[in-house]
Amino acid sequence: MKIIDFTEEYGKEYFCCLEDWSEEMKEAGDHKENWYNKMKDKGLGVKLAVDDNGKIGGMIQYLPVEQSFIEGKNLYFIHCIWVHGYKKGRGNFQKRGMGKALLKAAEDDVKSKGVKGIAAWGISLPFWMKASWFKKHGYKKVDKDRGTVLLWKPFTENAVPPKWIKQKKKPELVPGKVTVTSFINGWCPAQNIVYERAKRAASEFGDKVVFQEINTMDRDVFLEWGMVDGLFIDNKSVRTGPPPSYDKIKKKIKKRVKKL
Ligand SMILES: CC(C)(COP(=O)(O)OP(=O)(O)OC[C@H]1O[C@@H](n2cnc3c(N)ncnc32)[C@H](O)[C@@H]1OP(=O)(O)O)[C@@H](O)C(=O)NCCC(=O)NCCS
Repeated sequence: MKIIDFTEEYGKEYFCCLEDWSEEMKEAGDHKENWYNKMKDKGLGVKLAVDDNGKIGGMIQYLPVEQSFIEGKNLYFIHCIWVHGYKKGRGNFQKRGMGKALLKAAEDDVKSKGVKGIAAWGISLPFWMKASWFKKHGYKKVDKDRGTVLLWKPFTENAVPPKWIKQKKKPELVPGKVTVTSFINGWCPAQNIVYERAKRAASEFGDKVVFQEINTMDRDVFLEWGMVDGLFIDNKSVRTGPPPSYDKIKKKIKKRVKKL
């Protein structure tokens, strides 16, 4: 197994988070590629883990904290680490050391850029991106927002701990209509799927539903809202991880339309 730098020849795999085999992923559009194209000149690091047969099994992506969705100084932030764990498609690559090697490669890379530490997010419950996995690798919890934990590993004694940026406001509603508000950033195909589904579902109700897109790839927009991804139907937040199905989103909109 080896860790390599991402180059655009691997775009087919990377832009869909190694799920090029998945039908669902086809709904994610080209948002991650657009995000990559914007962030590659802003310090984005992407590394891939390749097995001895040349198959890509894992990826990590990290950005200077100033470009991320947390608050901090002179740090990097890991947006995502993913070692393909499904049997379907390319197969399960987990528990072979790819995760550990990717994390080390990212840490070595950012240390060489002279930053004072690296941060990551995780879930306190034992599913999806487990905070405990980072703890095992020397990361310490610094902040929490409901079940989502912010962790970090300082490299120097004078490093300043990062903080979550929390939601600052709720979408404005259009009187007499159902308002569907979708926040889109691009970094996560699962969230991009939610955006695409919500947009499509909203369009089925004609002028009864207003669809508002809030593009948080622009960091000032993100800072104004304190939300990077998310979906609201009127002022009710819809859970987006894992992505709700198209039918589920449509049903929720329909319920509100009936109340108009
Ligand atoms: C967390 C994650 C990155 C770890 O990747 P991984 O490649 O499985 O990690 P590693 O192989 O380095 O370590 C995992 C375990 O495998 C074990 N392991 C490593 N090499 C091994 C080997 N050759 N044989 C057996 N076990 C091995 C490690 O000891 C470790 O065990 P532990 O968990 O009991 O400590 C991966 O599980 C993952 O992608 N999870 C989902 C994350 C996610 O949701 N990402 C999206 C966020 S946006």
